[in-house]
Amino acid sequence: MKIEVKICMGTACYVMGGADLTTLADYLTPHQAECVDIKGIPCVDSCFDSKNKKPPFVLVGDVMISEANVNKVREEISRQIEELSL
Ligand code: FES
Repeated sequence: MKIEVKICMGTACYVMGGADLTTLADYLTPHQAECVDIKGIPCVDSCFDSKNKKPPFVLVGDVMISEANVNKVREEISRQIEELSL
């Protein structure tokens, strides 16, 4: 089983830092890299509906991360790997 990591590639997310996340795989440990399936996806509509949340958005499994950066995404991946005993 792999954890799906979906990086929003919509314009708002891309210009707010999503572009930096396209290299996420380079920052993962070999084990983390084995456990995830990373893909770019079109706008997830969170940018239109964000009271306290800001782009860029990344979905790690079912968890939506706002103001995502490599560290936040890596932490969530580690948490889920532990939770799922992968
Ligand atoms: S551009 Fe990412 S949520 Fe809309």
